[in-house]
Amino acid sequence: MIDFQNVYDSPPDGANADWTIPQNWGAFSPDEHAMWDRLFQRQSNMLSSRAADAFLRGLDILKLSKPGIPDYRELNASLMAATGWEVVAVPGLVPDDVFFEHLANRRFPAGNFIRTLEQLDYLQEPDVFHDVFGHVPMLTDPAFADYMVAYGQGGLRSLGFGALDHLARLYWYTVEFGLIQQRDGLRIYGAGIVSSFAESVFALDDPSPNRINFDLMRVMRTEYRISDFQQNYFVIPSLDHLLQVTVSTDFAPLYEKLEHMPDIAIADIVESDVVITHGTQAYVKRAGH
Ligand code: PHE
Ligand code: FE
Repeated sequence: MIDFQNVYDSPPDGANADWTIPQNWGAFSPDEHAMWDRLFQRQSNMLSSRAADAFLRGLDILKLSKPGIPDYRELNASLMAATGWEVVAVPGLVPDDVFFEHLANRRFPAGNFIRTLEQLDYLQEPDVFHDVFGHVPMLTDPAFADYMVAYGQGGLRSLGFGALDHLARLYWYTVEFGLIQQRDGLRIYGAGIVSSFAESVFALDDPSPNRINFDLMRVMRTEYRISDFQQNYFVIPSLDHLLQVTVSTDFAPLYEKLEHMPDIAIADIVESDVVITHGTQAYVKRAGH
């Protein structure tokens, strides 16, 4: 993790104390805007039958008056009108407490750079395409928008319990890699999936991964990996359900319990699971990861 390019210990030169920087929209090159357009086209075509209704409703606000990387002055006017959220530019990954503080105040920090052609299909660090295309559409949904605020507040609180690792799994398996059960079938709402061409297919169609009904404690016990497709996806019945169970639960006793419970290995199914797909894990075996 240390070899990420844009990771700093303190705000780098030119950044504010909260790590934000001016987006400086005018400084993106024509090639960088073209990269956004290319990624945008490819993902939005494929996602019309795969992404959650909430995501597809939100996607429209990224089609601003001109193509290319969205200008936050314009984007934020629409986003703010929808749910009071705004996007702020940051140089790269920010420390946990800084990140939570932004979320708790309805600010979503977005990496202020875009991937290169060699990174078209995969990069480890979140760029503006992942952060804005992946996260912003869901932030226009009122329930999800409130969930993200509560998550920021809960994140700050978790630091006091030394429980960040457990809470981070909740973010991973919902905000980044969550699936939702709609009337018309399973759909994607996780930003890590919707911003990935290959995982948008894999997450819904491949027989390899497990797809398991969401359970708060189960998720907080489950390990994950960051550098390849997931081996488990957790499925929520609705965004309101996700908001309700997390907001109405005091996590302090859960953190206490988690300290005495073993983690669940990455692809294991446990007895209490409500399994939608028991994955073959063939992808992992094939790829030898
Ligand atoms: N209710 C949680 C707590 O007591 C906070 C939280 C809300 C965490 C929403 C995640 C998502 O800490
Ligand atoms: Fe993300």
